[in-house]
Amino acid sequence: MQAAATRRRLVQALGLAALPRLGAAAAAAGRARVTLRLSHVVAQQTPKGLALEHFRERVQALSQGDIQVVIHPNSLLYGDEDEMQALQLGAVDMLAPSLSKFGPIGFPEFELFDLPFLFDDAEQVQRVKQGAVGQELLALLARQRLVGLGYLDNGFKHMSANRPLLAPEDFVGLRVRIQSSRVIAHQMRALGARPVVLSFGETRRALAARVVDGTENPISNFWTQNMHQVQTDMSLTAHGYLGYCIVVHERFWRQLAPGDRALIGQALAESLAWGSAMAQRANEQDLAALRASSATRVHELDAVQRQRLRHATRSVHEGLAARIGEEWIRRIRGAAAASV
Ligand code: LMR
Repeated sequence: MQAAATRRRLVQALGLAALPRLGAAAAAAGRARVTLRLSHVVAQQTPKGLALEHFRERVQALSQGDIQVVIHPNSLLYGDEDEMQALQLGAVDMLAPSLSKFGPIGFPEFELFDLPFLFDDAEQVQRVKQGAVGQELLALLARQRLVGLGYLDNGFKHMSANRPLLAPEDFVGLRVRIQSSRVIAHQMRALGARPVVLSFGETRRALAARVVDGTENPISNFWTQNMHQVQTDMSLTAHGYLGYCIVVHERFWRQLAPGDRALIGQALAESLAWGSAMAQRANEQDLAALRASSATRVHELDAVQRQRLRHATRSVHEGLAARIGEEWIRRIRGAAAASV
């Protein structure tokens, strides 16, 4: 109920038409010359869900219905465990996985974005994505015939469990759901927790069944999966960043007519800029809703507490440097800190 009300408010505030039901989108696609099938794992009313909906609407408008985007959200068609394979096989045309999910498929450099306490704010992330490091990372995807079409923000992640997580001692012995990132696994071990890799679609159920005790999320993902019903405490650690890379397979991209490619590229560029600008607002709105629900206690950390967590996770940076080279770490830190 609460999530549905949030969704209505967001759709109104953001000026989107109502989010379509899946059947309606699929029926409309039947009349189009080109259909682009897009799958993702989060709810429609998250920053990613809304940005991709904006993309769908822009493609529809720019092509006057000639190109249709059909979106399968919320792990309904493919989840973390099989979406990449579906893209490689051509069963889906476009994905928007989190940057963390590129490590296990052969791109450990993308785990740079997972480093704890690397970024102080969203501007630093923007500088990295728009600069040479961000562009080089996209270019690496060609190694597996993927085309990286751009980045999208969600925001900063926070820690939840059935107790406050304000100091390294609080993590000891907890089983914590993580994405399939070695950097995030190292971060949890450095804090004394036991990382458990689970697909996003399984996370809420695993928390409810106490298979895991806690997790990390931007507030928008936490709220829209109703995780507040199964976690008593949210600690606003803002320890790490969660963003996405929009990818298509080279085979799909090349077989499009040049004009269609340009149109899709334009719609996507507009939607990613729109989505990244809106993400912070969506997370703030969901945090306000979370506070108002009183289902989960929300804890602020002071500077000393954050510093202790930062200190406890320092070895994670060294661990990634050993795998991908110190130079990448030096460059991403430099790019984040660079003045504009
Ligand atoms: C997660 O698995 O926690 C996130 O990557 C989900 C998402 O796509 O935001």
